[in-house]
Amino acid sequence: MAKTFVDKDTCIACGACYSTAPDVYESDDDGYAFVKLEGGLEGFVEIPEELLSDALDAKDGCPTESIKWED
Ligand code: F3S
Repeated sequence: MAKTFVDKDTCIACGACYSTAPDVYESDDDGYAFVKLEGGLEGFVEIPEELLSDALDAKDGCPTESIKWED
């Protein structure tokens, strides 16, 4: 099961991830991304199967490679 996490230190708030995968990533008040799934603020969280494709697209589309991934 794939897991994801957003590295806020390198996120530039471009917004691509939460546009591409709005059920996985969300914007904070300043436009920086975080994983909105349960536990997403603490560390890597498992991505439900039905959201995997969108999450993978978001990861590949992040210009700063801030979306971290574990298979
Ligand atoms: Fe940030 Fe990358 Fe998303 S720069 S807003 S984590 S696409």
